[in-house]
Amino acid sequence: MEQIKMEQIKDAKTLIEKAFEARENAYAPYSGFQVGACIRTRDGQYILGANIENAAYGSTNCAERSAVFSAYSRGYRREEIEALAIVTQTEKITTPCGACRQVLSELLKGDTPILLSNGTKTVVTNISELMPDSFGSEDLEETNSKAANLEREG
Ligand code: THU
Repeated sequence: MEQIKMEQIKDAKTLIEKAFEARENAYAPYSGFQVGACIRTRDGQYILGANIENAAYGSTNCAERSAVFSAYSRGYRREEIEALAIVTQTEKITTPCGACRQVLSELLKGDTPILLSNGTKTVVTNISELMPDSFGSEDLEETNSKAANLEREG
């Protein structure tokens, strides 16, 4: 991960500001840990997400998943996502959890910039760096084609 100056990523300041706006809507009564996220699309839209917790803790949705699911729900796909920011107000910069890395490895391009910020310090990374050798759709191809062959052969 590389520490960046705001000027290095197109409009990084706005992206991070909007992620902090999203954080205002975090629903985190159990952890008290509020996270905001924001996606910028290639056509200039900002799509916000916050963490939404649940009394059944495992049903919680992280901020970055909220944002990326929202973008997909509006019809955007990985090629149209220009950058993602994830923000917290902790001294130590927050990095995405394992579940989010798995989701982002499919729904973002490997080299799409991911900005992690606490408002004072910002680092830039991407999902290839955060999750090398991830499991993905290509790993299912071998068994899928075997199954298709079996079906064809009756
Ligand atoms: N959380 C996020 O929303 N994103 C992260 O990158 C790390 C963790 C949330 C999940 C939960 O609501 C709270 O932070 C504490 O884990």
